[in-house]
Amino acid sequence: MFTKVFTATAGFVLVCGLAACGSSDKSDGDGGGSAGGGGGDAITMGFAQVGAESGWRTANTKSIQETAKKDGIDLKFSDAQQKQENQIKAIRSYIQQKVDVIAFSPVVETGWDAVLQEAKRAKIPVILTDRSVDSKDDTLYATFLGSDFIEEGKKAGQWLVDNAADADVDKNGSINVVELQGTTGAAPAIDRKEGFADATSSDDSIKVVASQTGDFTRDGGKKVMESFLKSQKDIDVVYAHNDDMGLGAIEAIEAAGKKPGVDIKIITVDAVKDGMTALSEGKINYIVECNPLLGPQLMDLAKKVVAGEDVPKRVVTEESAFDQAQATEVLADRKY
Ligand code: AHR
Repeated sequence: MFTKVFTATAGFVLVCGLAACGSSDKSDGDGGGSAGGGGGDAITMGFAQVGAESGWRTANTKSIQETAKKDGIDLKFSDAQQKQENQIKAIRSYIQQKVDVIAFSPVVETGWDAVLQEAKRAKIPVILTDRSVDSKDDTLYATFLGSDFIEEGKKAGQWLVDNAADADVDKNGSINVVELQGTTGAAPAIDRKEGFADATSSDDSIKVVASQTGDFTRDGGKKVMESFLKSQKDIDVVYAHNDDMGLGAIEAIEAAGKKPGVDIKIITVDAVKDGMTALSEGKINYIVECNPLLGPQLMDLAKKVVAGEDVPKRVVTEESAFDQAQATEVLADRKY
């Protein structure tokens, strides 16, 4: 049973297991830690989530909460509403509560060293999940579990290179791409941009003519696409850093009287159910998968880290990609 506690000053949402909200008595201090927060056997995990900005994030949160419950891990959960300061406050509160392990998905890459130093001084191990931090000191965290975002961007770009003839919708020899970027400064936004640019650099006809953040939200994707449709005369392709922004772009394209997937090709990342539905309907042309179901691997790593066992510094999640036929085939069984 979970309850919500709103902190007036912090402005972030702290959701915690009732039993875990009281003081936990972390006795071990060797950095690896040992199970025993709250004086019982259950591991106490403080998890600082980015927000609820996308279908991917909702599935990720559900996976973490369900797996913690199943594994008997006492989860303190906070939603930072896409603000770094809220995540830092949540992490500080977990340090104060002496949780056994802290896990979080950093909203942006930089600016974490100070709070991670505080966790290290308190001998609370930290697991990065989904997104990493840009820090010179990799002793500040135990492990990083998540996707290879550069590889995701490369897959998106490679599909475009392979389908260039078809993507040149007006057959003028030039493929004009508009890019809907994720949250500015976030690892997936930086890396998916880089991977795409790298893969498409081999084809001179592919040009990114406009690139702007839609903050990984549907509404953000729609608004940015509306402005692109006004400012850009010739758009052949939308490359959206996630499904939600791609779905927002579809709304804008349809409102402008064009056919998404036909008049303008669309490539996205994530492969959540709404995205896969649009792909099977031909409104999106290609989706690179980013797996949000990180709960089981995260809890396994947490148990090992708290027990002082060695874990790999980097755990990359396995992912694929889908065209229309492949999406149609798997859609009925898609869990999120
Ligand atoms: O960090 C993963 C990204 O964050 C997902 O691709 C996106 O949908 C989410 O908001």
